Amino acid sequence: MPGVPFIDLKAQYARIKPQIAEAIQDVLDDGRYILGPAVTRLESELAAFCGVRHAISCASGTDAIFMPLLAYGIGPGDAVFVPTFTFTASAEVILLAGAAPVFVDVEADSFNMDLADLERKISETRAEGKLKPKAIIAVDLFGLPADWNGLNALAEREGLYLISDAAQSFGGVYHNRRVGSLAPVSGTSFFPAKPLGGYGDGGAIMTDDDDLAELLKSIRVHGEGADRYEVARIGINGRLDSIQAAILSVKLSIFNDELEARERISRVYDEALKDVVTVPKRIDGLQCAWAQYTIKTDRRAAVREKLAAAGIPTGIYYPKPMHLQAPYAPYGSGEGSLPVSETICDEVTSLPMHPYLSDDQAKRIADAVRDALS
Ligand SMILES: Cc1ncc(COP(=O)(O)O)c(C=O)c1O
Repeated sequence: MPGVPFIDLKAQYARIKPQIAEAIQDVLDDGRYILGPAVTRLESELAAFCGVRHAISCASGTDAIFMPLLAYGIGPGDAVFVPTFTFTASAEVILLAGAAPVFVDVEADSFNMDLADLERKISETRAEGKLKPKAIIAVDLFGLPADWNGLNALAEREGLYLISDAAQSFGGVYHNRRVGSLAPVSGTSFFPAKPLGGYGDGGAIMTDDDDLAELLKSIRVHGEGADRYEVARIGINGRLDSIQAAILSVKLSIFNDELEARERISRVYDEALKDVVTVPKRIDGLQCAWAQYTIKTDRRAAVREKLAAAGIPTGIYYPKPMHLQAPYAPYGSGEGSLPVSETICDEVTSLPMHPYLSDDQAKRIADAVRDALS
């Protein structure tokens, strides 16, 4: 099926082209290119969408999880617990803050942090006494919300900060609450391929905590104090461009419709594939944002080869867990130490997933998977 893109940003652009042109023109005419009215507007829209008091836009999904670490004063000597089956940014920010990552295994079916292993890693770290447990960064992998009731209870019991890495799950729902409102602080990404993506880098941090929101706004602008040239603390340049904000406002206006389309495609894939591969886990009361539709099969190479020959792109997210990647190896315990994640890395394949796939295209992609396995 030549021409099926893994993610079809062009089809989306064709749908909203005039609105995008107008939104960009408005910013150009207004002249406030950094943190202007387009940014303020987007922030209120994001806060309303998530049902939180504050949305603080920022330059990327990486900054959206890095800035909370800075705000909480996490640094040398501190341990931050993070799943090993994730994108590097989830763990990278811990080292950038000067702290140490402690890698945790995930569940084989949801791909999200395994709370029993998390508890084990927290006790082991306390018993060892070298690092002080300080925070958890939990990821909603591929868009499926993690066990937030369990995570909040555990973080409270252990006296740890809890940061949601919601880079892949913006738009997801957990028991009638939107992603962004599930942890004391949540960071998301507007990288173009994400469920809500801009035309460049971007991100946002959601919180109900007024003091934390003020602190994050200061950190976003080099730690500025009461006025621009008072340096109150060390921060970063983590601002979102006004043009990206204006684009994201247009995209947010069609986002619910796109989320429904992703859900529809996921159901077509499920029906066509559930008897031949392991399809993504569904949990009652949870809505996935479908950043990826990821199947598991022990015959991955055959599937990918067959699909490639048919012109259908696939992706492997992720081929290697973080604890086995060179820069993180000193913080992990090597091969065999986080066995579920290590096995998953050999079995996962992500299929094309975007709101502009037709049911027919999804069925034909699924047929190609079935052919490969027959
Ligand atoms: C789980 C996860 N965390 C963080 C990020 C970082 O987001 P960004 O690329 O916007 O910095 C990503 C993006 O790829 C991600 O998938």
